Amino acid sequence: MASTQDALYRRIDLDLSWSERDLPERVRTKHVHRLHPYLGKFIPQLVEALLERHVPKGRVLDPFAGSGTTLVQALESGYDACGADVAAFNCLLMRVKTREYNPFVLESELREALARLESFDGVRPEGAVSRFVRDLVDEYEHADVLRVVLARAARSARRTTHFDLDFPRTPQRSPYWCHKHRRECRPVGEARRFLRRYTLDTLARVREFARLRARGHEAVVLHGDARELDFGGRFDGVVTSPPYPGLIDYHEQHRYAYELLGLEDCGPLELGKGTSRAALRAYVEGVAAVLANVRGSLRRGAPVVIVINDRRELYPEILELAGLRLEERYRRHVNRRTGRRAGEYFEDVLVAR
Ligand SMILES: C[S@@+](CC[C@H](N)C(=O)[O-])C[C@H]1O[C@@H](n2cnc3c(N)ncnc32)[C@H](O)[C@@H]1O
Repeated sequence: MASTQDALYRRIDLDLSWSERDLPERVRTKHVHRLHPYLGKFIPQLVEALLERHVPKGRVLDPFAGSGTTLVQALESGYDACGADVAAFNCLLMRVKTREYNPFVLESELREALARLESFDGVRPEGAVSRFVRDLVDEYEHADVLRVVLARAARSARRTTHFDLDFPRTPQRSPYWCHKHRRECRPVGEARRFLRRYTLDTLARVREFARLRARGHEAVVLHGDARELDFGGRFDGVVTSPPYPGLIDYHEQHRYAYELLGLEDCGPLELGKGTSRAALRAYVEGVAAVLANVRGSLRRGAPVVIVINDRRELYPEILELAGLRLEERYRRHVNRRTGRRAGEYFEDVLVAR
């Protein structure tokens, strides 16, 4: 029998179901969480609440770490952390977010690089960015921070509509009606103005996180297939959100960055591609293999907290294959604000051991 709205809401964990007013975008994307767009991340306030509920102090592991929300939040809440991801760009982003910087050196390097980029004469800005990446970026101690700024500028400069920035289709060359901003917008075709804006924004975000992170904690980032990685040592808990079949291609969403930065593409190892029977089978076995691998790195009784919208009900089998026992399951309402993806959406939090 279908649940009535009331019955459904009775099962919803209201403490984890924030509205736009409770938690506006500015707060959800605080400090380094918004160094670069990433589609498919969970919000830091959710990680904060899950750590507080389920993981005693210590070391936290996220085998599908994505843009690093678990790592950043763990550092803010006083944990050590390790995050793994198969996508090289995600690992770059995580390293940049979690590293500790000398703010004076960082600022002078970024400003010097910006001045150099702006001084390239007779070259289109996109050409200047590629040339800088090819010939100069490695001269800088903070080359990775520069890479993230340059990728973000390259993304914004693509000729596309604002509402298709995540996965642009055909090039947009003329003004268009924008669903996201509810007005006529124009495509942009150059990176220059974004370089300055994103350099300053990055400096401000890194400075803000430096003020908030707990002292004496570190995050380790591992690039590779979480089915096979050695995570190193013992962990006190896992907080993770695995990919879901057929929803998001995590390499493809940052295609421009792979091209600009010449990063290794491990797309074939990414889990969650496709929804055919064979693809779903591969997904179940793949995620189970990751969780079984994770189990080997946990202290006895440590919780594995998984955030997922399991509408195909794959997780009972995944947990069983991984040798984990479901202990608790609760549901939260997800506030989805942006134009095309608006609508009711729920996700589950599974707590297994
Ligand atoms: C839902 S996202 C995680 C988002 C993350 N919670 C955040 O807030 O940014 C899932 C991630 O799993 C990664 N992934 C997919 N297959 C993987 C594999 N075999 N090993 C490690 N990571 C993988 C994807 O690249 C993607 O970044």
